[in-house]
Amino acid sequence: MTTVTNLVTMDEAKRAAARAAIAELPEGGVIGLGTGSTAKLFIDVVGELVAKGHKYIGVPTSDASRAQAIALGIPLLGDEGPWDIAVAVDGADEVDPRLDLIKGGGGAQTREKIVNYSARKNVIVVDGSKLSARLGEKWHIPIEVLAFAHKATAAHLAVHGKPVLRMAGAEPRRTDAGNLIYDLACGPIADAPGLDVILHAIPGVVETGLFIGRADVVIVARESGIERLVRHGA
Ligand code: A5P
Repeated sequence: MTTVTNLVTMDEAKRAAARAAIAELPEGGVIGLGTGSTAKLFIDVVGELVAKGHKYIGVPTSDASRAQAIALGIPLLGDEGPWDIAVAVDGADEVDPRLDLIKGGGGAQTREKIVNYSARKNVIVVDGSKLSARLGEKWHIPIEVLAFAHKATAAHLAVHGKPVLRMAGAEPRRTDAGNLIYDLACGPIADAPGLDVILHAIPGVVETGLFIGRADVVIVARESGIERLVRHGA
């Protein structure tokens, strides 16, 4: 455990974690740029490094991350792929002791998972509140679904919990791909890998927010310091 002293606020802790993630990067090359408040802090640091002459090229996981990277002058690859990503750095909503994750609080889990899957190493940056004994204890599972027949899809999801259509004001929230999101409240999940397989089998489900075996390193920021967790076998 690396201790960073005098982290006064959680914001500072997140910023310290974002900086700690830089140590996981190669000197230059293609890196995945996550989405969310913690990943945003990481992208800021990458922008600083690029401004100092580091040769990083980003693959963004959302329109928001793309816009931020462009504003910071970080060169980007196109959306089509394939990409040879050395390291991807992203946030998470919940992390269990096996380092399985729930992601998608920002609605970007599909692109995040595609980029994650193309990365040779995945680093997740979270604050201490995201750790839990079992996925589902603190968060619902965000599930991106096609708009077509979404109420039928939701009825199938309802077998496994309570699906709530995510809203943006009076309208359903749309993902960057134009799809909808159901947040599935299921409580502590006994078998997250098994549930993920079942959810993927439902027609209309585009992607789930369950990331099983997809985190190699988790950097945890607490007010007291930073902890680096490594997935068993990674
Ligand atoms: C985006 O869709 C999410 O997967 C985020 O990575 C996740 O919600 C964590 O975001 P924060 O860093 O803002 O908590």
